Amino acid sequence: MVTVRRWIPVVLLTPILLTAAHSASSPPVARQATDDAVLPSSSLPRPGFNAAARSAGKLYFGTATNNYQWNDTAYVAILDDLAMFGQLTPAKVMKWSYTEPERGVFTWEMGDQFVALAEQRGKLVRGHNCVWYNDLPAWVTNTTWTAPELAEVVQEHCFNIVRHWAGQMTRCAPVLTRICFSDSWDVINEPFNDDGTWRTTLWYNTLNTSYIPLALHAAHRADPHAKLYINEYNTTGPGPKASALKALVRALKAAGVPLHGVGVQAHEVVGQVPPLADVKRNLGEFAALGVEVAITELDVRFVGLPPDEEGLERQRRDFETVVRACREVEGCVGVTVWDWTDKYSWVPASFPGEGDACPFDVDLEPKPAYYGVLDGLQEETSSASRKYGAFQHIKLNHEVVRARYDAPAAQWRIRVRVHRPTDTHGNSASGALAEEEIDDVADVLVTVDGSVSRCWMPEIVGIGGFEGELHHSAKYVPKGKT
Ligand SMILES: *[C@@H]1O[C@H](CO)[C@@H](O)[C@H](O)[C@H]1NC(C)=O
Ligand SMILES: *[C@@H]1O[C@H](CO)[C@@H](O)[C@H](O)[C@H]1NC(C)=O
Ligand SMILES: *[C@@H]1O[C@H](CO)[C@@H](O)[C@H](O)[C@H]1NC(C)=O
Ligand SMILES: *[C@@H]1O[C@H](CO)[C@@H](O)[C@H](O)[C@H]1NC(C)=O
Repeated sequence: MVTVRRWIPVVLLTPILLTAAHSASSPPVARQATDDAVLPSSSLPRPGFNAAARSAGKLYFGTATNNYQWNDTAYVAILDDLAMFGQLTPAKVMKWSYTEPERGVFTWEMGDQFVALAEQRGKLVRGHNCVWYNDLPAWVTNTTWTAPELAEVVQEHCFNIVRHWAGQMTRCAPVLTRICFSDSWDVINEPFNDDGTWRTTLWYNTLNTSYIPLALHAAHRADPHAKLYINEYNTTGPGPKASALKALVRALKAAGVPLHGVGVQAHEVVGQVPPLADVKRNLGEFAALGVEVAITELDVRFVGLPPDEEGLERQRRDFETVVRACREVEGCVGVTVWDWTDKYSWVPASFPGEGDACPFDVDLEPKPAYYGVLDGLQEETSSASRKYGAFQHIKLNHEVVRARYDAPAAQWRIRVRVHRPTDTHGNSASGALAEEEIDDVADVLVTVDGSVSRCWMPEIVGIGGFEGELHHSAKYVPKGKT
């Protein structure tokens, strides 16, 4: 919690604290049937992924995003929230066709906008990417290159894009610490086939594997402080591709090539995420090679739509597995989702008929998967409650208490007993146990004064514990796509 406070600029805390103070001093609102008018869901403070990740000792929780989405003010409000996202990856605008559409002609505008947005909001940036087989401009793909020519092309590109943003993607924690985090770059993207053989791309066909050290050395010359990554999908659990990537990392390290990280993309399919122990072992094996590990593109898609209740629960657990594996492997520095809302997911366009892969739905409302992410960032516990950084989120019978704000609220009846040992200053407080029956609640939060509110409030500490029973369970109802 202390780490989170240090990280979040004071200006951002102010409105949150005001909200909390207001709610804590108000009588419980639970019996009011029309709270939505008072607390529109879009402005509700919710437990943030990044705050929880920082509490867990990770550097960040981040998301991919695109400049094109920033005219959507509801989207940007959540994207901006530093408690939610501490890191951004440009899904498109640093790719080759955007940054060097003609040889030697570099176009920085959209990438500069991206870095500026992150800088204004105090977020880290992952540069993405230097060398991929996709999103290449025609001048690269339509030319028959000799090996020396293409070696020059790849080095020029990597050197120039990494140098352009060198130092600009570094962030220092404000106020209390002088900790700084370096730029990170996905220098090499997706070099392997699923069976672990080399992908036969323009690069490989002309340069064999030499393009990999060439690109890494060029990026290192451009920014000696940047963390340089190889980023690959289908590497979440052990398998032929993960093995091939480990062998490559080992060989590059042995040859003294500058390589600092492995990006495990984690584009997953619901129900096909490997067991937690396998994911942890796999991430641990990467880290043991002397590189950091990051989950760089997490999403968990349904291959059939719309999902049913069971599928959504499965998706929640799948998100929890991947995030928990990162939490529990020391060398895993952070998690990035490949956008956080189904509204802007890449999946439907790339896998027709598939989708709903993100933790928030198309209306920017949290899905069960949102709680899966938060659960994965917590210490595993069998207790009825989970602590989300400074948040207490009630779990009853191992069911996360959750509902959409426009769900039929009358389905909820929750009895909560609150133990209240200390106040916000750590003093022992004399409050008796509060006990109340609540109808009409969505997200439930127990405040430090023992009252029970239906809204999330951050930065409230000192709750000793609580217990409760779930009488009826409201269902999350996925929308549309019938
Ligand atoms: C944002 O702009 C895009 C075009 O760039 C448009 O399709 C979309 O509807 C706009 N969204 C909003 C919320 O204005
Ligand atoms: C590149 O080649 C493809 C066919 O191989 C062609 O359709 C396209 O027009 C070419 N583009 C340029 C810019 O030369
Ligand atoms: C991952 O690779 C294996 C082969 O090792 C393949 O069977 C599987 O379909 C791949 N999964 C995805 C999600 O691409
Ligand atoms: C590619 O390089 C590897 C060594 O890195 C070598 O064993 C292999 O023969 C090369 N392939 C070709 C076609 O030159």
